[in-house]
Amino acid sequence: MEKAMISPSILAADFARLAEDVADVQARGIDYLHIDVMDGAFVPNISFGPDVMKSLNSTASVPYDVHLMIEDPDRYIEKFVTDNTEFITVHYEACSDLASTLDHIHSLGIKAGVSIKPGTEPEVLDDYLENIDLILVMSVEPGFGGQKFMENSLPKIKYYSDRKSEKGYKYLIEVDGGIGPANAHVVRDAGVELIVAGSAVFKASDRTEAIRAIKGE
Ligand code: DX5
Ligand code: ZN
Repeated sequence: MEKAMISPSILAADFARLAEDVADVQARGIDYLHIDVMDGAFVPNISFGPDVMKSLNSTASVPYDVHLMIEDPDRYIEKFVTDNTEFITVHYEACSDLASTLDHIHSLGIKAGVSIKPGTEPEVLDDYLENIDLILVMSVEPGFGGQKFMENSLPKIKYYSDRKSEKGYKYLIEVDGGIGPANAHVVRDAGVELIVAGSAVFKASDRTEAIRAIKGE
């Protein structure tokens, strides 16, 4: 069985007890913390900003995997740089000059990710693959947790996995939305290396078991 790493989305945590919830899942074997930032413009929802993320700096023992669902994200990238930030991921659809946004992230010493929405074809990233450290395939329309997994993400994961094996690219392949213990094997089999899960982790009756099952352990 294929294995993957997990990045629980704190969007599904109890915001009134955020640090406790994060410490709890960290003790159960997670690899990253997925930070979902929504601006009310690129997506029809508002989540939280950099100060909420930074309130976790003293709690976080795994790196941040920041997912910026923000129009023109260059305006805010600096604000998400901390000692805990490993990846900052922007949306292909939200950038007018993706190459320069990738350079911007790299100039801050951070790994650069790019996400594509369910309606975006995987080939749009062909010219950038060498400069991307993480590709985030959305398996729901970005904006809300707790939605149903979309199967059209699977051929995209496979596409990036095949390009990676053919050309030796270094990027990590991540998927986000609607994934839990029951369907995680499908994305792992398609070649995903990092799985985002919000509700399936934070709302699980047995979080340890949910994390293990999603990772394929
Ligand atoms: C959607 C977010 C996802 C989402 C995942 O815009 O990017 O990270 O919160 O939540 P679940 O796992 O509940 O679908
Ligand atoms: Zn996300």
